[in-house]
Amino acid sequence: MERTLAILKPDCVRKNLIGKVIAHIEEAGFKIVAMKMLRLTPEQASAFYYVHREKSFYNDLVKFMSSDRVVALVLEKENAVEDFRKLIGATDPKEADEGTIRRLYADSKQENIVHGSDSVENAKIEIAFFFSQSELIANGVD
Ligand code: CDP
Ligand code: MG
Repeated sequence: MERTLAILKPDCVRKNLIGKVIAHIEEAGFKIVAMKMLRLTPEQASAFYYVHREKSFYNDLVKFMSSDRVVALVLEKENAVEDFRKLIGATDPKEADEGTIRRLYADSKQENIVHGSDSVENAKIEIAFFFSQSELIANGVD
């Protein structure tokens, strides 16, 4: 079964929206197979978003992503990567479709509530960023 990596970002945690967003994810048919709360260091946030290092928004993004705790989840479903991107909507909540998580809950292009992997290949890399192989095995989802 396909997997994707989701992150409930610091704005989601600060706005007490963890439960609502997870309910949305489960109602859409995703199985949560691993989950943890943690605070990223600026170094970890920089590494996670390394692909965007040349972008004008990179430094602010790193500051934001390390500003508070996040919740990382491994989600399982057929076509998980693409379906989760559809569920969260466009990066900018103003451009996100009606009913998507970002349209419903996000305040801005930066503070957009949730991250979702953009390809199956990146999902594997991002899952390994947050979860060790032994943690996934311990969950029975190696
Ligand atoms: O998260 P997504 O894949 O939709 O967007 P991205 O282009 O990969 O950008 C990663 C994250 O950087 C976004 O989710 C936003 O939090 C942030 N960002 C921003 O602050 N300003 C932009 N112009 C674009 C992205
Ligand atoms: Mg992206």
